[in-house]
Amino acid sequence: MPNIVVVGTQWGDEGKGKVVDILTPQVDVVVRFQGGNNAGHTVVVGREKYVLHSIPSGILHPNVRCVIGCGVVLDPASVIEEMEGLVRRGVTLDGNLFISKNAHVILPYHPALDRASEAKLGARRIGTTGKGVGPAYVDKAARVGIRMADLLDEKLFRDKLEWNIAQKNRLLREIYDAPTFAVEDILNPYLRYAGWLAPYITDTSLLLSKWIDAGYDVLFEGAQATMLDVDHGTYPYITSSSTTAGGAATGSGVPPTKINGILGVAKAYTTRVGGGPFPTEMKGPLGETIRQRGNEYGATTGRPRRCGWFDALVLRYAVRINGIETVALTKLDVLDQCDTVKICTGYRYKGDVLTEMPAEETVLQQAEPVYEEISGWMSSTTGAKIEADLPAKARQYLARLEELIGVPFCMVSTGPQRAETIVTESSPLTRWYPAVRSSLL
Ligand code: GDP
Ligand code: IMO
Ligand code: MG
Repeated sequence: MPNIVVVGTQWGDEGKGKVVDILTPQVDVVVRFQGGNNAGHTVVVGREKYVLHSIPSGILHPNVRCVIGCGVVLDPASVIEEMEGLVRRGVTLDGNLFISKNAHVILPYHPALDRASEAKLGARRIGTTGKGVGPAYVDKAARVGIRMADLLDEKLFRDKLEWNIAQKNRLLREIYDAPTFAVEDILNPYLRYAGWLAPYITDTSLLLSKWIDAGYDVLFEGAQATMLDVDHGTYPYITSSSTTAGGAATGSGVPPTKINGILGVAKAYTTRVGGGPFPTEMKGPLGETIRQRGNEYGATTGRPRRCGWFDALVLRYAVRINGIETVALTKLDVLDQCDTVKICTGYRYKGDVLTEMPAEETVLQQAEPVYEEISGWMSSTTGAKIEADLPAKARQYLARLEELIGVPFCMVSTGPQRAETIVTESSPLTRWYPAVRSSLL
């Protein structure tokens, strides 16, 4: 039975939450494998809207188990608030949510360092979510981080916390001129959080291994996206985790040999929140129009998202880096009223046209997009059930995108609702999940 990874192909917010929610009834387990509460995954069910931050989007389905893997960094206060909010809305967590012992903990000095570092960077700031995700991964790599397992060991937690606070306070005071922390102010609340979370904390890689051996289907839910990957993204304007498909193995403890397929999620245009190069950004009023039509405001911070045209270089790169076999294309409806639609097919830089993603910061900052323009369809796509329901020009747009990125679309989404989704006829998705098409018709 297939174990499939869902990854973002652009700079995040492609609609991964919606895609995972649609696929969840076809699987037994959904796993988050990286990132933290910097993520905001929106799932719309009828009149209800859920925004998931640390918890897998699969949690809305009562018969599916959800795992927060070792590659995630977890803010206990934030995850408890998220859990309580879900329980208030009737979601079952007990027996359905499992948190890795190895996941690293975001402690109050991490958001403080995140914000202080951003302030110090000035014009070079990343535009982080301020959740402390970057500094928590710094501690993990520096081997001074505190894991969920450590939080459950009071003496060890106190030792590690004392050592960390002494170091962090020096940094905050001497480098950043920012307020410092006292051990006792953190220790007691975090021991309480540990007690609250203890029933959920376990060896999740062992559980996953047993479940996979028993024939369970696992879906890996990526957060952020390829262009924000710590190795493959637009460094340094990235997040601090491995957002690409390889991260699903390291961030869950499931070996790569047990992963059977990779599905990318892409918007029919592009958005980015925060700083960093964005060659196809629309700087004029059209950008604002798309922002309004697509409701492009951050699900975590509420910041307006920068909007731009579809970038085929980015998608081709994402297909290559992740090994994507098929793409779910979202938000086609947002382009419904555009009289022309542009597709970026290359970057012009110093007289040359680049057709592969450049790694150099300066090249990306100065790259001028080369566009192909097609005339818009100027009619509604919302709620189309099959491809034939789409206007001919919209189908032409999709066909050209598929040709440029080299893999077929498995889904085309035309609205936030579950039912506003086409599963394409030739979709590889039906090979992995034979019932998915009928589940939406
Ligand atoms: P994620 O972080 O990748 O899960 O994406 P977000 O949830 O941050 O952002 C995607 C937004 O677009 C959410 O508000 C979704 O409800 C919404 N959405 C998803 N698919 C579509 C679509 O096809 N059309 C429209 N109009 N909205 C969509
Ligand atoms: P989802 O999972 C869009 C961006 C931030 C910033 C950079 C680093 O909803 O797609 P961080 O707080 O991670 O250190 O910020 O990454 N970023 C996201 N952008 N969607 C996200 O998540 C993001 N998570 C982080 O805006 O530019
Ligand atoms: Mg999001």
